[in-house]
Amino acid sequence: MDLGLSGNSALVTAGSSGLGLASAEALAREGANVAVCGTTPEHLAEAEETLSDAGDGDVLAMEADITDREQVEEFVDSTVERFGGLDHVVTSAGGPPSGPFLETDDDDWYDAYDLLVMSVVWTTRRAYPHLADGGGTIVNITSRSVAEVIDGLVLSNSVRRAVIGLMKTQSREFAPDVRVNAVLPGSHETSRIRELIEQGVERGEYDAYEEGLEEWGSGTPLGRIGDARELGEVVAYLSSDRASYVTGVALPIDGGSMRSA
Ligand SMILES: NC(=O)c1ccc[n+]([C@@H]2O[C@H](COP(=O)([O-])OP(=O)(O)OC[C@H]3O[C@@H](n4cnc5c(N)ncnc54)[C@H](OP(=O)(O)O)[C@@H]3O)[C@@H](O)[C@H]2O)c1
Repeated sequence: MDLGLSGNSALVTAGSSGLGLASAEALAREGANVAVCGTTPEHLAEAEETLSDAGDGDVLAMEADITDREQVEEFVDSTVERFGGLDHVVTSAGGPPSGPFLETDDDDWYDAYDLLVMSVVWTTRRAYPHLADGGGTIVNITSRSVAEVIDGLVLSNSVRRAVIGLMKTQSREFAPDVRVNAVLPGSHETSRIRELIEQGVERGEYDAYEEGLEEWGSGTPLGRIGDARELGEVVAYLSSDRASYVTGVALPIDGGSMRSA
């Protein structure tokens, strides 16, 4: 299916690997110009190569820390300058530390808020005038933890819910010019998940990585954890005019593991 994104311009925060990169790749495969940011130069270099191979559009891979407002604004401005406009924003982030409530301190909470919430506030505020000029989209990559809490992830369970409130509000305030949606990933095998499984091995929850991987996939009706590409394809679809009547939606992409409707 041609999503009609060829020649459009997109930026993906925290898009140098994982779900952000998979989303940028899906947009690039459709012919969009794509910009990604991250903090690790090697990840950015690899992402630039991956994205250049994925499609015919232009690629910008830029070092920017999404917990720093000025760097976020510079990333948005550089993208607009490079591509001559901006049609699509996808927000991703690193994951906040795992652990139970009693092992968190104030700094953990404020850091998680900057990483997960303020990064979206800064990005969408700066991008809005460009998106509104001719029509655009925002897709927030969050987590299924916003709908069903996940044991041992108190920061994700709590802080991410603000992004859903923001998404729903923006979907109304930015209509009809800008559509705003969120995707709620279940487990997809990225470095974030590899890290969480390895922490589980260290805590003695699994004997080996493979056992952890199997365990993470076993509670899913589809019987496995997802491939990041399976999330990226949905992000590209939501960004396209094929989803032109879809806004304000928080869509789980989790192999059917969420029990609530
Ligand atoms: N994978 C899953 O199954 C899953 C499930 C539910 C929710 N999620 C959530 O979805 C988001 C993405 O997950 P993922 O699996 O793709 O994670 P990942 O593979 O660890 O990738 C995280 C990305 O975020 C970037 N990043 C981290 N901190 C940053 C910062 N301060 N400024 C700019 N970039 C930053 C990293 O870039 P650098 O390394 O270059 O800094 C990397 O590109 C996370 O919030 C995660 O918790 C993931």
